[in-house]
Amino acid sequence: MGDVEVIDLVAMGDDFVRDPYPVYAALRERGPVHRVRIPEGAEAWLVVGYEAGRAALMDPRLSKRWDNAAPSFPISSPAAGPHMLNQDPPDHGRLRKLVVREFTPRRIEQLAPRVQQITDELLDAMLAAPDSRTDLVDALSFPLPISVICELLGVPMLDRAAFRDWTNTVLSNAAPEVRQEATRETAAYLAELIKSKRDAPGQDLMSDLVRTTDEDGDRLSHEELLGTAWLLLVAGHETTVNLISNGVLALLTHPEQLAALREDMTLMPNAVEEMLRYDGPVETPTFRFTTEPVEIGGTVVPGGGHMVLVALADANHDPARFPDPDAFDIRRPAGGHVAFGHGIHYCLGAPLARLEARIALTSLLTRFPHLALDAHPAALSWREGMLIRGPRSLPVRWGISQ
Ligand code: HEM
Repeated sequence: MGDVEVIDLVAMGDDFVRDPYPVYAALRERGPVHRVRIPEGAEAWLVVGYEAGRAALMDPRLSKRWDNAAPSFPISSPAAGPHMLNQDPPDHGRLRKLVVREFTPRRIEQLAPRVQQITDELLDAMLAAPDSRTDLVDALSFPLPISVICELLGVPMLDRAAFRDWTNTVLSNAAPEVRQEATRETAAYLAELIKSKRDAPGQDLMSDLVRTTDEDGDRLSHEELLGTAWLLLVAGHETTVNLISNGVLALLTHPEQLAALREDMTLMPNAVEEMLRYDGPVETPTFRFTTEPVEIGGTVVPGGGHMVLVALADANHDPARFPDPDAFDIRRPAGGHVAFGHGIHYCLGAPLARLEARIALTSLLTRFPHLALDAHPAALSWREGMLIRGPRSLPVRWGISQ
């Protein structure tokens, strides 16, 4: 495809990392698909816009299996084993069904009191800061989801710190060897965890996934259990961190929206949807590979394992779907956003993410009536890479006289 211009997103440097929205919007003006170079070091076809994005997410010719990547594709799968998000039908449906049996709405509801308790403890610790200042990522956004997912999987308290480091590295822009090593360490730990749940089952999701057998007698193999545990850990953790951080940042930089929410906290569920739309944690979801040529808006993306990335961030800012898309408005009808994806891979953990965000934000605003940003928004440092979007740290203060 030598005749198609390659747009080098890496060359755009820090500006693109900090605020990719105008770049995507400019591309969208030119058409729904573009050949780009991405920070992970590969070339990809980037799909922008709401309709084109949703169509790509539904397209069965775009495979999630890494063995469908072109032989020359320079990146290897970060997963610890097969799981629903790196499979296509029918294997995808089989794996998802076995997990859905155990990942029930009832189990999520039952977690609510624990989510509240963990949040309260974190906010107690935050309030004790002598100078009424902290980094919100360290104090709340990061520790809450990892504690919840470890609780869900039945990971002992003592081992949780190591998890933070590993999953953070796996999803970072670190060198491939460093990420591979973190994946190996996580996988080795999870293999031990699965063994311990087999020997001494508890009430947790992991114990139930080890035991579960569907009506046809089907069950998860050891490799599939490993892959699934790894997926739940990474998908359930890194994303929710940034829903909390990006959501708080949006509120603190839009004082009139913050005031409206404080005035009427029943707006919280819709405010969380708007946070997901306005600045969601997943900028572009996981890689897809063409199994045959796919025409998008007059451009043919070749078959044979070309990588396709869907800019969820841009789909959620398409004025054809969301009027005045760059305005943060907690009262707008924000439903229909694609922050949790679309189609068969639609996020399994969406109810849990929503629960965590609503509890965290409600408690934070209630207990910190004078919460404010303690840095200029333009001075924040953002996570690199196009998968996860969020600030590395979020300095806040809450003293009355500051
Ligand atoms: C705000 C938080 C979250 C966001 C924005 C988010 C976003 C997403 C997105 C965009 C996808 C689709 C990826 C693709 O099509 O390539 C996805 C899939 C998935 N997510 Fe989430 N997620 C969040 C939280 C969670 C949580 C808390 C869990 C579990 C505890 C979870 C588990 C999963 C799983 C298992 C899949 C794969 C579903 C499948 O392949 O059928 N996610 N998520």
